[in-house]
Amino acid sequence: MRRLLPKTAFALSLFAGTALAAAAPVPPAAATAQVTAERIGDGIAAFLPPGMTAYPHSLALLRTPEAEGTLPADWQIRPRFDRHVGKTRVTVAVPQGADLYGTGEVTGPLRRNGESITLWNTDNFEYAKDGGKQLYQSHPWVLGVRPDGSAFGVLFDSTWRATLATGSDIVFESSGPAMPVIVIDRASPQAVLEGLATLTGTMPLPPRWALGYQQSRWSYTPDTRVLQIADEFRKRRIPADVIWMDIDYMDGFRVFTFDPKTFPDPKRLNRELHARGFHSVWMIDPGVKIDPGYKVYDSGTVQDVWVRDAQGHDYHGTVWPGAVVFPDFTRPQTRQWWSALYKDFMAQGADGVWNDMNEPSVFNVEGQTMPDDNRHRGGGELAPGPHLEYHNVYGMLMVRATREGIQAANPDKRPFVLTRSNFLGGQRYAATWTGDNASTWDDLKLSIPMSINLGLSGQPFSGPDIGGFSGVATPQLWANWIAVGAFYPFSRGHTIKAPQQKEPWAFGPAVEKTARIAIERRYRLLPYLYTLFRESSVDGLPVMRPVFFADPRDPHLRAEQQAFLLGSDLLVVPAFAQHPALPQGIWRTVSLVDGDRADPLQATLKVRGGAIVPLGRIVQDTNEDSLKPLTLLVSLDAHGQAQGRLYEDAGDGYGYRRGEYRLTTYRAERQGDTVKVGIAGREGHWPAAARPVVVQLVTDAGVVTAHGMDGNVTLHLPRTH
Ligand code: GLC
Repeated sequence: MRRLLPKTAFALSLFAGTALAAAAPVPPAAATAQVTAERIGDGIAAFLPPGMTAYPHSLALLRTPEAEGTLPADWQIRPRFDRHVGKTRVTVAVPQGADLYGTGEVTGPLRRNGESITLWNTDNFEYAKDGGKQLYQSHPWVLGVRPDGSAFGVLFDSTWRATLATGSDIVFESSGPAMPVIVIDRASPQAVLEGLATLTGTMPLPPRWALGYQQSRWSYTPDTRVLQIADEFRKRRIPADVIWMDIDYMDGFRVFTFDPKTFPDPKRLNRELHARGFHSVWMIDPGVKIDPGYKVYDSGTVQDVWVRDAQGHDYHGTVWPGAVVFPDFTRPQTRQWWSALYKDFMAQGADGVWNDMNEPSVFNVEGQTMPDDNRHRGGGELAPGPHLEYHNVYGMLMVRATREGIQAANPDKRPFVLTRSNFLGGQRYAATWTGDNASTWDDLKLSIPMSINLGLSGQPFSGPDIGGFSGVATPQLWANWIAVGAFYPFSRGHTIKAPQQKEPWAFGPAVEKTARIAIERRYRLLPYLYTLFRESSVDGLPVMRPVFFADPRDPHLRAEQQAFLLGSDLLVVPAFAQHPALPQGIWRTVSLVDGDRADPLQATLKVRGGAIVPLGRIVQDTNEDSLKPLTLLVSLDAHGQAQGRLYEDAGDGYGYRRGEYRLTTYRAERQGDTVKVGIAGREGHWPAAARPVVVQLVTDAGVVTAHGMDGNVTLHLPRTH
């Protein structure tokens, strides 16, 4: 296979149907007027703007695309390149009747037709700035679904500041030079997202504990308070896996330090948390306090890692610690230096890292970030460039270095990094949360399309601050939020530095009960969720999906943004959903935990007819083996059949890459008055599990239960069925 546009070849005619390398070079003057189009994959085309002779290095993509031949003559979606008021413009006509999605982290509706956003990563407290049309991350990517359910995606491969309008045309206007555009055109939105994953990669499989419920606040301090919170969860029997350490653990907000008074022995704290079955995640911001004598500042200065201003001096900004310098993550040396800082930090027993403020956010300046003309020095595959070029990937380059650092520190563990800022393709390095939302009903409702659109932009691992970050949450709001929040891919309660406590028990016994039920439901679902995360790490499909994925041809589902799907088999309908558009076909309401159906605040959960959903028992954290017994929730289709998968591995580490896992496909079939539930397929080196299994057959008349051994359960239906 050839590189797309070998440097020696000039661009030929736009849709000439001639392999580029085979073409005789044409004079540059003629070449500059032409767009180059090449097939780079199955239903994937790359378009290079006039004058571009090779696909440039891309931070969004896993690798530089290679040409696989010419485009079919009937290829529909073709970008037009031009300039408009000093900007580079790309226009893509939207096919008649197509619905648009994606565009990354966005407020507003799920369906993006008629929307316009700015791609310029911004610390946007309460999403108040610019009407929330400019948030912490940038995803220059649009997914379109035609009326017939076929779909396309358009990727504008540029990191520069840009606007993205999704009207009757998709219009991308960039402050940078003309960029390549990749178009995917396939039979379904799912197939388009699989195509996106071949280009931008997938989320690496996270450790299983990262799927548990997580509790945060700005900040739990001192260390004894952290343990009190952990103990409270256990005492009240509310399952949870992670406690988060926000900035106040640091010594004067110096990153990679610990406050000697409040966190004198972080190693012991981590040990104590582990002893209670908890994992810990600790915040690290990019701004490094200017403070001679402080190790991180000194070593960074010696190694000359800081971003420079237009005059070539170290750029100084203000963030939590006061005056700071910022690592220039475009430089390979800087990334290595940054990665190495995690060695001692992780040796304290931290389990994960939370990178915040990495838009980067700078206080007390216009635009709340560094100047456009600050200089990044690049290196390796990255050319030197102004901040305007690298701003949107500052966070992504930071979390890439963070991930590498914690991977090197703990080679046998799967890294967990959470980031606020990121870019298209950034799921390769970190999970994300949607920044500083507010304790309002609007933000609760908004969180669902936000996470769905992130998933439709390649980032499956996301969720908002459950309960809302700023402002006072009413008990009613917090209870409704946790009832839904238990089903976000990333499920974490967090809050601003304010007097109100926002733990599950802080709102009185009724809310605590609702929270316990909601979180217990998540824990019962963990085997299913973990299977979805595994699948997503392979094929790139989101964990949390729009309802229209159940039937991309059904026009009524296209704007549904209250209800959502987890995988393809479980439908979550929040209690507050008004007239949700739900898919046709068999969807049976299920109960997972005692009392869930009786609690009016719980989301309604429905299992697709034809699905088998694996469940665990309620455990208090993911260290416990929840598959004793394994429960298979079976919902037969109209033909009396069902199928589902369960992925199991060690929950951490990389044994699974050597085959140390078990992926079981279960199959159920009704024959007369019996339903047999067996194994239709198995992958991985782990032997079949000899364990008790409970089958719960969900029928329209109720649940029928049978017990047996894994792979061989026969269920007898009562005569009335
Ligand atoms: C930012 C983060 C928030 C965090 C706070 C203090 O506002 O978005 O989550 O609590 O900084 O570190």
